[in-house]
Amino acid sequence: MNLKVVEGALKEDLLTVLRKKDTPHWLFRETLEKLGLLLIPEALKGLELKRVEVETPVSEGFSYQVSQEVVFIAILRAGLSLIPPAIGLYPKGRIGFMGVYRNEETLEPVPYYKKYPLVRGARYVLLDPMLATGGTASYCIEELLSKGIKAEQLTFVSVVSAPEGIDRLKRFEGLTLVTAAVDERLNDYGYIVPGLGDAGDRFCGTD
Ligand code: URA
Repeated sequence: MNLKVVEGALKEDLLTVLRKKDTPHWLFRETLEKLGLLLIPEALKGLELKRVEVETPVSEGFSYQVSQEVVFIAILRAGLSLIPPAIGLYPKGRIGFMGVYRNEETLEPVPYYKKYPLVRGARYVLLDPMLATGGTASYCIEELLSKGIKAEQLTFVSVVSAPEGIDRLKRFEGLTLVTAAVDERLNDYGYIVPGLGDAGDRFCGTD
């Protein structure tokens, strides 16, 4: 697994807004989207390109266009927050969903919905702002691998990651993980510390 931690002052500033417990849901949502705009370009690095002819206002020449299909998969619910920046930056991308919740006692993933396009050779970008135990992430990655998609085609995008989750993804050789922060640890309830709380609840305003 290749780990890429996006760095920069803007990222730090946005993360602080997300971490504050008094940030209202609408600002939390807006800020997650902005952080997505910093993470998605990193996730789309290395897409296949084709050389095309272009006529600029000044001359004729060559330029490059993305030639690889891209599938963004939101892991429900919180992953929905990263769809607007993803398709905002790359409107040609396709969209899929995986619904997985955590059993709060065992912390193991319980799948309840999946719908995503299978496109040969595509880059698959899995979106979930929180990489905690890594159980849900592993389930979703294994689901795609079972369909013949290679780990090299997969990028997992999280905003905050726990070391425990990162360790659990290390066995997926070829996978790329893009994140904005690696936090200290998980608490006894499986929440990331210091983290930002329940991203799904805060994004939806259900808390
Ligand atoms: N999911 C969340 O939304 N927050 C955590 O801290 C861990 C898992």
